[in-house]
Amino acid sequence: MGFARVIFSGILILLILNADAVKVKDLPPCKFKAIYNFGDSNSDTGAISAAIFPRQWPNGETFFHKPVGRLGDGRLMIDFIADRFGLPFLSSYLDSIGSSFRQGANFAAGGSTIVPQNKTIAESGLSPFALNVQVFQYNQFKARTADLLKDKKYSCKNHLPKPKDFPEALYVIDIGQNDIAYGLRSVSEAQLLASLPYIISQFAIQVQNLYAQGARTFWIHNTGPIGCLASTLLSIKNPPPGFLDEYGCVKSQNDIAKEFNRQLKNIVIKLRADLPQAAITYVDIYAAKYGLISNAKQQGFVEVQKICCGYHKNGIDVGCGGILPLPNGTQVYGAACEDPSLYISWDGVHYTDAANHWFANLLINGSLSDPPIPITHACYRT
Ligand SMILES: *[C@@H]1O[C@H](CO)[C@@H](O)[C@H](O)[C@H]1NC(C)=O
Ligand SMILES: *[C@@H]1O[C@H](CO)[C@@H](O)[C@H](O)[C@H]1NC(C)=O
Ligand SMILES: *[C@@H]1O[C@H](CO)[C@@H](O)[C@H](O)[C@H]1NC(C)=O
Repeated sequence: MGFARVIFSGILILLILNADAVKVKDLPPCKFKAIYNFGDSNSDTGAISAAIFPRQWPNGETFFHKPVGRLGDGRLMIDFIADRFGLPFLSSYLDSIGSSFRQGANFAAGGSTIVPQNKTIAESGLSPFALNVQVFQYNQFKARTADLLKDKKYSCKNHLPKPKDFPEALYVIDIGQNDIAYGLRSVSEAQLLASLPYIISQFAIQVQNLYAQGARTFWIHNTGPIGCLASTLLSIKNPPPGFLDEYGCVKSQNDIAKEFNRQLKNIVIKLRADLPQAAITYVDIYAAKYGLISNAKQQGFVEVQKICCGYHKNGIDVGCGGILPLPNGTQVYGAACEDPSLYISWDGVHYTDAANHWFANLLINGSLSDPPIPITHACYRT
């Protein structure tokens, strides 16, 4: 009987939550005046280009018609999110030229991890701007904004947010892929799995730090199916039976991503309890990406294994936009395909404008969200 009551109250709670989610949709949309984004190359709009080395052509060719610091031929999911709110695309915090931070800032940097880094980018291939550093930068940005707004002589105030915009902003976080990718190339899969709780704990600390600074609305992306990245699949010759799934993705790698996501979702549930004024949405990006990969043909795309930009033939691999001199004096160029809109994978790791647009359509209307509310209503705690 005790058991029946547990089941019964479980059902009741579900109904109440659903009712809340339905009610929330009837409330007026949130008026986010700014977006602050944290992450890796999936949402870097210029950090690595500004701070370390420029992204080269043909990145940006489809939408911007020039390289604009993003890895991809066009827009990233964060661009579609900004667009949804009528906000301009986010300037990278590190970009000192031509930037406006009036409506937010982007702290994401390609190659960034959740866990703090001690190695240089040359040693590890990882960005020095791990999530803890991105949050330090945010703290500095916020403090400096407050200072400059008080400074009578400072003349560029219209490039800064208003102090009251900080708590009312949308805080987007999309990070974790490099923690997994680096783990896959440096330790065993078992060791990587064992380190996930540490990685997730570092994530939680940074959400708490942002909350302590006044952030209230969090929109947290989980990690994608890393075992489906075309660059990984390139190097796999004669896989043993069962190594790949029915869509040609590395099963064990996707299992690690799924376990990361399970733990991320659990920490989000805990953070909701610990941070009473936070509205935290967990967004299933994995489902969107795997959904497209497993339905590529029906959705009008070529398989994820086909890379639009780069040269990968006869054992020669040249990255997107790269040039490789050959011993006989000729060279190979990592050119882009004719029609990127047919491709899911842009360069083997990053997605095309068309794929990101497809993901964003699901992301924005709440199809991937827990609780199941659209991004326009993310400020309501259910
Ligand atoms: C970096 O160094 C600190 C202090 O020595 C250590 O606690 C941490 O685990 C190191 N991080 C990495 C990613 O190696
Ligand atoms: C140079 O070498 C590449 C790779 O072996 C080959 O495909 C190409 O035809 C060669 N070009 C000339 C001019 O010999
Ligand atoms: C969201 O949009 C997608 C794609 O446009 C559509 O398939 C889906 O049914 C929509 N979901 C909701 C909850 O409106």
